[in-house]
Amino acid sequence: MELKKICELLQGSFPFHVRRHRQILGLLYPIVNLKNAKKYDPIGFVFPEVNLKAGINYRKYYRWAFFDYYNGLMIKGASKVNRVFCTVFPNRRPLERILETAARGDLVFTHHCCGFDRKKGFLPIPLDILERIKEKQLSVYSLHTPFFNNGPWSTSVQLAESLGIRREGEFAAVNGKPTGVFGQAPVSNLNDLKDLLCRQTGARDISIITNRNSTSAGRVAVIAGNGGYEHFISEAGRLGCDTFLTGTAIEEADIPDSLEANLRFRRLAEQLKMNVIGGGHYFTEKPALQKMVCFFDRHGIYAEFVPDSEDRSGVI
Ligand SMILES: [Fe+2]
Repeated sequence: MELKKICELLQGSFPFHVRRHRQILGLLYPIVNLKNAKKYDPIGFVFPEVNLKAGINYRKYYRWAFFDYYNGLMIKGASKVNRVFCTVFPNRRPLERILETAARGDLVFTHHCCGFDRKKGFLPIPLDILERIKEKQLSVYSLHTPFFNNGPWSTSVQLAESLGIRREGEFAAVNGKPTGVFGQAPVSNLNDLKDLLCRQTGARDISIITNRNSTSAGRVAVIAGNGGYEHFISEAGRLGCDTFLTGTAIEEADIPDSLEANLRFRRLAEQLKMNVIGGGHYFTEKPALQKMVCFFDRHGIYAEFVPDSEDRSGVI
């Protein structure tokens, strides 16, 4: 299929909800536009920093239009795509695997535009990999904010579905769009929920913080990925949740703002007497990227999921 067609399909299914006045301002004043992009997607604060730190002249490899919102087609290769490879992070290992098997012009569909390590935090796509992507004329499409805004294919919705959580509602709005879901756990105990998460996603090193006298699991708030924020857990408390399941709450990635936010989140969880499960950034977002194989399949495009190096579960 034509790359252009796939991009149109993705833009139609996952629109960027950018306020019109911001778009007009962005067209008139490119500097303002940069600020808007970062407001629209906080990964815009991280991307230039990690690339510059690694000495990568990213403007040479990435499309300039990508920096309007840090979402969409970020590397443009050949015009025809045969296969799509879905990844959570564009980390070295999955990209090497893709480069081994992809044909000229194939497409990498990634949730984040940066790689990620549990300890180091966000990382750039390494320079040698960027060169090989260019050589092979592969394309890379990154979908972040429009993918974690709730919708049938989105990260929190897919995580809740993969666990069989009976959905009751949505919460955790970002830019006016909900990004979390809550509902009844399919099991009655916190440890059983942990086991279920392990079986369904392959997650290992799952952390549990018990802040209640009881380990029963009833109403669970679910935010895949980076959900460890005070305002989210406050809202979950108001919604009557006893358990909060997210990715990064307990991870110690070297991202100063996130570390502090996670610490405040854990303190508040204690005050609110809410139990917390931290499944890992990668593993809690994995179900949505696996499900994207079905999305592409419905449109007659062959796709496959490529696991990360920390994923030795075989759960794919
Ligand atoms: Fe994420």
